[in-house]
Amino acid sequence: MENRPQWGTRAGFIMAAVGSAIGLGNIWRFPAVAYDNGGGAFFLPYLFALLTAGIPLLILEFTLGHKYRGSAPLSYARLSKKFEWLGWWQVAIAFVISTYYAVIIAWAMSYSVFSLKLSWGEDTVGFLVEDYLQLAAPGEFGSLVPSVLIPLILVWVITLGVLFKGIKKGIEVANKIFIPTLVVLFLIIVVRALMLDGAVEGLNAFFKPNWDVLTSGKVWVAAYGQIFFSLSIAFAIMVTYSSYLPKKSDITNNAFITGFSNSGFELLAGIGVFSILGFMAVQQGVGVDEVVKGGVGLAFMVFPQVINEFPAFNQFFGFLFFTSLVLAGLTSLISIVETFVAGVQDKFNISRTKAVLFGGGLSAVLSLFFATQGGLNLLDVADYFINQFGVALAGLVQVIVVVWIVRQLKPLQDHANMVSDIKLTGFLGSWWKISLAFITPLVLGYMMFDLIRTNIKEVYGAADGYSRLFTIQYGWIVALGAILVGIVFSLLKWKKAEVVLPSSSSKEVNK
Ligand code: ALA
Repeated sequence: MENRPQWGTRAGFIMAAVGSAIGLGNIWRFPAVAYDNGGGAFFLPYLFALLTAGIPLLILEFTLGHKYRGSAPLSYARLSKKFEWLGWWQVAIAFVISTYYAVIIAWAMSYSVFSLKLSWGEDTVGFLVEDYLQLAAPGEFGSLVPSVLIPLILVWVITLGVLFKGIKKGIEVANKIFIPTLVVLFLIIVVRALMLDGAVEGLNAFFKPNWDVLTSGKVWVAAYGQIFFSLSIAFAIMVTYSSYLPKKSDITNNAFITGFSNSGFELLAGIGVFSILGFMAVQQGVGVDEVVKGGVGLAFMVFPQVINEFPAFNQFFGFLFFTSLVLAGLTSLISIVETFVAGVQDKFNISRTKAVLFGGGLSAVLSLFFATQGGLNLLDVADYFINQFGVALAGLVQVIVVVWIVRQLKPLQDHANMVSDIKLTGFLGSWWKISLAFITPLVLGYMMFDLIRTNIKEVYGAADGYSRLFTIQYGWIVALGAILVGIVFSLLKWKKAEVVLPSSSSKEVNK
């Protein structure tokens, strides 16, 4: 019989799933993505992607993990032996993300210390690029940057330390401490932000719709990309986490709670961040659009500037903001690394300790590339390509495989209904099936086609000095390499003969 570990309580699972979902994506990525893609008008594609892809896929992944009780590779192998590679591909995507995600948390850790003395001074851009990251030209590595390396080691010690302790004593306990703390810290920031002079201007800029963007494919892919990344779907996480659920678990309800908590927090982050940007714009007598920058720029260049200008308790609010980033990031990183820890444990029948040591250790070593002087440029390219041609593409392939190739939507729906209080029947059943069978493949498929065409024609980041060769080496090869790794791992032999479920449901395994 199987002796798969389990979550201690339902709240423990929900906390871990929410902890995985709420991450750098919510605080670091969402506000800038929303603003770049039409502000208020972005909510339409965002909500559309959430309701027709995000939550339906979350239910699907929870059901896959719960029904097949395995890491992503094992669950897909049990779904159909032909599609084990899809599980490994998603694990490989998670692996790539883990290598740079850890580095952003390390920056946030440094910045929470810097905020105590406002060490970034007046020129926050110069401080980040020259003093802290010692940035080299695109394509050059330079040497390791000690001020990034030290917090990075700490990030890995905490993450791997939690993972060594296992599901219940490690991941569940960490999330039960980190997530409530994060929510309290973040609420303090948002309430304070809303009372700042200029908050209304910031919120106007955030919510004012620019309807023209709705005809742009880029905006829709951005919405799907944001939803997938933010909900931790299509890169093996939610399948892995739900494989540790007890047999009697309300899958559908858990998915709704996780999905709406994540988007609620995302919205809160947007409101907080834009109130603060409004404040800054008013201080400097400029428009809000002039103070907004993308991901890294927003958190590590604009925020320190705002904190300098805060009316009181500057250090305290700086510390709260960067500590929130660290907490949100850590709970997500733990879930990202768990995907490959669980994958190799299942496949090679090794102990958890060894899996954490090898899997987590390898990711930690590779993350050093992003702690070099060339780290920021590498990170930017890897993040873009692995999200568009990793996460979003894997989500598309996942629905096509489950719905149209192995045709398992109905059995999965039956499984979810068997264990859940909220049943996927009537309207909910049609919504779930139509979203997964038609809307997501059609809309996302078209967008993906358009995106691939654009990326072949144009060089990503050309304006920042990226060459075609640079994006091929660290973007295309990384994203396509993940598919290759998926195929190679699926060809290796299972050390434990457990692909067939050791219970009555084994007869549902497809050949
Ligand atoms: N879901 C995680 C985030 O939003 C990966 O950052």
